[in-house]
Amino acid sequence: MQLSDRITGINVGGSDGWDVFYRARAMREAREPVIELTIGEHDIRTAPAILDAMHEAARAGHTGYAAVPGTPALRDAIAARVRARTGVATSRDNVVVTPGGQAALFAAHSAVCDPGDTALFIDPYYATYPGTLRSVGANARPVLARPEDGFQPQAADIAAAAPGAASLLINTPNNPTGVIYTQATLQGIAGVCLDHDLWLISDEVYDTLVWQGTHLSPRALPGMADRTLVIGSMSKSHAMTGSRVGWIVGPEDAIEHLINLSTNTTYGVPGYIQDAALFALQQGPALEAEIAAPFRRRRAIAQDILARSNVINAVPCDGAMYVMLDIRATGLTGEQFANALLDQTRIAVMPGESFGRAAAGHLRVAMTVDDATFADALTRIVAFAERTAHAA
Ligand SMILES: Cc1ncc(COP(=O)(O)O)c(C=O)c1O
Repeated sequence: MQLSDRITGINVGGSDGWDVFYRARAMREAREPVIELTIGEHDIRTAPAILDAMHEAARAGHTGYAAVPGTPALRDAIAARVRARTGVATSRDNVVVTPGGQAALFAAHSAVCDPGDTALFIDPYYATYPGTLRSVGANARPVLARPEDGFQPQAADIAAAAPGAASLLINTPNNPTGVIYTQATLQGIAGVCLDHDLWLISDEVYDTLVWQGTHLSPRALPGMADRTLVIGSMSKSHAMTGSRVGWIVGPEDAIEHLINLSTNTTYGVPGYIQDAALFALQQGPALEAEIAAPFRRRRAIAQDILARSNVINAVPCDGAMYVMLDIRATGLTGEQFANALLDQTRIAVMPGESFGRAAAGHLRVAMTVDDATFADALTRIVAFAERTAHAA
């Protein structure tokens, strides 16, 4: 039987930069001692107190169908957090709770793109972006953010791609680059959205992982609250990746329609998970800072080690849980470097090519192992790069 073009087209044209990831996983399964610095997942688990809240909610009977838009208490807590962080008037009517940021990305694009519409996104990008846009039937079109611009997207490049497009997807703090978009970048982006009547989908799932500078939500810029859908998640801020709880914040009418979409697709998020998320948010910024602390430490470790290298150029790591290395001076592509590194040192990192064209010749190193292992792995990556450059 024939399947739809939409579903069979989700993964077309992907880079094979993910080979190294699958090879590393296979080696681990074969019990080889591989250090994986690949996936964006904490090396700690969800805090016991959050699990207790989940358990208590489930034992208290919150195991039936939960409120599809999100429980009023959780929507209120998300709205309060957004108000506190951005100053933008936000109520529960601006919030729909989703099964994670990924489902929020899909739903947000469903809300603003018809099949065949052009949906812009910035390259380098989080790996699922093009597939997510194609999943809603959109024509996914990348706009490059170049290394020579510090991976800050340029308004002129977006404007050149904007005529006729329906939406633009951005992500700050950024995966894979670790870059935080500056106020000037965000103002430029907002200007293009206003000029070309674009929806802005602003993926802010790393908003609590900020090491240098300030995270600004573009929804707070003049004229943007009416045309911005913000993607949020408990995954990265609270080490709750497996709980699948996130949200969209946007204009009330868009949220009303998104709730319809939830009713007809996911039917919401389990009540005991929502209660655990509420408990976690009620702990305030102190818990978020605790979850962020290991990455902050490792970023300092990375800066120290990388400063000693003449071959690797580190992209300033301002946020998120990754450090991006420019290895073009070795003469290898990111894929060649990552494959050789895995074979010769059993360290797995992601080639920049797996995140689009703009990050070719780079590596993304996830800071997701304990400090000592991370320092050792990074020292060995630097030594490997020096050897490779000298051999060339
Ligand atoms: C930029 C970005 N957006 C969204 C997600 C999805 O996260 P989740 O679905 O766990 O909320 C991720 C996960 O790695 C990500 O890196």
